[in-house]
Amino acid sequence: MANCERIRVGILGFGTVGEGTYRMICDNEEEIVQKVGCPIEVRRIGIRDPKKERSLPGEFFTTDLEDIVSDPEIDVVIEVIGGEEPALSLIDLALDKGKHVVTANKELIAKHGSRLVTKARKLGLDLHFEAAVGGGIPIVQPLKHQLAGNDIVKMMGVLNGTSNFILTKMWDEEQTFDEALAGAQKAGYAEADPTNDVDGFDTMYKIAILAAIAFGKQIPLDLIHREGIRKVTQKDMHYAEVLGYRIKLLGIVEETGADDEILIRVHPTLVPEDHQVAKVEDAYNALWLHGDFVGDLMFSGKGAGSFPTASAVVGDLIDVGRNMMIGGSGSAIPYGEGMKCRPIGKLETRYYMRLVVADKPNTLGRIATVFGEAGVGLAAMEMRTLENDLGEIVFLTHKCVESSFTSSLEDVRLLDVVESVESWFRVED
Ligand code: HSE
Repeated sequence: MANCERIRVGILGFGTVGEGTYRMICDNEEEIVQKVGCPIEVRRIGIRDPKKERSLPGEFFTTDLEDIVSDPEIDVVIEVIGGEEPALSLIDLALDKGKHVVTANKELIAKHGSRLVTKARKLGLDLHFEAAVGGGIPIVQPLKHQLAGNDIVKMMGVLNGTSNFILTKMWDEEQTFDEALAGAQKAGYAEADPTNDVDGFDTMYKIAILAAIAFGKQIPLDLIHREGIRKVTQKDMHYAEVLGYRIKLLGIVEETGADDEILIRVHPTLVPEDHQVAKVEDAYNALWLHGDFVGDLMFSGKGAGSFPTASAVVGDLIDVGRNMMIGGSGSAIPYGEGMKCRPIGKLETRYYMRLVVADKPNTLGRIATVFGEAGVGLAAMEMRTLENDLGEIVFLTHKCVESSFTSSLEDVRLLDVVESVESWFRVED
């Protein structure tokens, strides 16, 4: 039940985001009262480790997280513990107990968003998740509201700050992937196990959430093509630069033209150096999109960190508070399930590849013939001599179907003049 004299909040988790959220609610109390119409008060905070030193008095904290979500004295639950469980069970219970929910949990929303938001809507409750994508950048609410009248044709996002930090260090300071990863760990961006960030899982959850809102149906995660940045080398960055491109880890989703079908993917991508997305540096995030009426649009800002993420959480909390003040019925916007996703083999784009070949007459001709016979046109090339009668060749193709490109690349790999296919990446223009 709404308490119109004050809005009482329970926070699940007091890590980076939980602590930032608490600070913002306290530090910006006056602004919040002015915008909501009553104070927001943090009543209790749920933690896992009671022995850890905290910046608040002990009476705020409990390890009994279920007790917070069941507490009749709490109106809104903020979930910032992350991961699938126990967050999912706690949010389900919070909704069952009539609490509004604000969460920053990308994995949870990417996997269970449709069911949870539909449930919240049926119960007349709010469930908001702006902080799940892009940290402090407002993306989710604009897609739900201001951009909702558009047919979103395509979105491309730099959605993982850690990967972008690593790629930036590799580019700017000529560090190897391992050196840049160690730097990202030292700077507190990457975890000891960096899989979630560098292998594209985090980006996959985020682009899946954005796609679900833009296209109105939850995206089955197993239908998203996902690759990370471990295979990006300085050599490829160098050739990309010579050809006028930067390499970025992008989440990309686009309409295919068929009903209820999209093509959605996460992979390192060559982006023209003058594209706005190519200019996103360090741990910053960005989302570029094209809507049929709005045209091209770009959001960018800090995609992670305590205060930027808290900014998104508190924004959602203020939205909930305003709704409670007018006795609103909850503003969760449900979306369905079962989006169809076109297989990556049917993607039509341009490709970059780097080959080590025998440095002798007609090598180039034989390679070009194999591609040509498969309908894969070559658009640009760079070449240099290596030691031991070998050479290195980089090609950019014209637009072609991915399955034709990959099968012709396999045929090229089998040519006796080809030592190895060192790498290949997709290109966005
Ligand atoms: N680990 C994420 C990133 C931040 O590096 O962008 C939280 O989503």
